[in-house]
Amino acid sequence: MAPFLVIVVTLCRLTGTHGITTVSEEVSVEVGATVSIPCLYKPSHKNLVKYLCKGGVWLSCDKIITTNSKSSFPEGQYTISDDPDQGVFTVSIISQEEGTQTYWCAVEMGFSKLDEKTQFKLFVSKGKSSLYVDQQEITGFAGDSINISFDSKTHGKRGWCILGHCKEPQDGFIEGSHYSIDASKQGVFVVTMKDLDMESSGWYIFFQGKLNMPIHLTVAVNSKTMNTRKFKSVASKGIKKNILVKQTLKLNQIVSSLIKVSSETDVVYSSVMPVHSTAAQNKPTGDMNLKVNPLLVIHLIHAFIY
Ligand SMILES: *[C@@H]1O[C@H](CO)[C@@H](O)[C@H](O)[C@H]1NC(C)=O
Repeated sequence: MAPFLVIVVTLCRLTGTHGITTVSEEVSVEVGATVSIPCLYKPSHKNLVKYLCKGGVWLSCDKIITTNSKSSFPEGQYTISDDPDQGVFTVSIISQEEGTQTYWCAVEMGFSKLDEKTQFKLFVSKGKSSLYVDQQEITGFAGDSINISFDSKTHGKRGWCILGHCKEPQDGFIEGSHYSIDASKQGVFVVTMKDLDMESSGWYIFFQGKLNMPIHLTVAVNSKTMNTRKFKSVASKGIKKNILVKQTLKLNQIVSSLIKVSSETDVVYSSVMPVHSTAAQNKPTGDMNLKVNPLLVIHLIHAFIY
């Protein structure tokens, strides 16, 4: 039993996909066209080096491009960019060879841990891809709606989801009440996103069967069509956040000074005991002023803030 468990745990570690989320299964693209693939990572990986690795077997894949050295081989076919605030890095690939290629989005974990990684496949073909979109990068205005049109030559369940919140394609469906898919025209799916706001920005996935197409949406504020109510609510959220951050900072300062006070007072109190009398004599007399009950101070600060 025990060796079996060890094997299972090891396998899970080797194929673990919890650290990074990307498109599921395949993205289809035409030879010579550019496709961008987002790789979502944990906030704790913010400052680590990210990279793209190519090859069906993880242990022997080729590091193609890394965020700390943006040159790639072959030159010009790959680019990488990291957005630590959103917790996502994006690789762009121009593939010149037909067929299915396996890639890995990966994060360097250092010497003591295995790198985090997750796999995706690129199906490169001549002629228009089986799941095609004009543009992966889309801009909308707050308060407006947008239509995104996909040409599909594939079959299977389809859906639209936010990257990182996509379920298995088999259960497929659209998340959220602001989205709808119009499938009335043969081979064309139009995703409509209504009531855009600043928080709608980010990566989405359209999928059908095993094919995925990532779409990046940027929502901008347009003074002409701006919905004032929405704008206000976003703005006040920002202000509230600011106040909270300031209060937390303040609280942190107070707490750390309290810790200082209480550790110093401990020494002063201990001076009452004859055993530590020399330590007490070495202390500057100024510290005597710090004989304050830290609990009382915490209560006072609490009352002040709330
Ligand atoms: C989106 O498509 C619908 C029909 O499917 C149309 O009524 C609407 O005007 C379109 N919206 C935009 C912003 O193009």
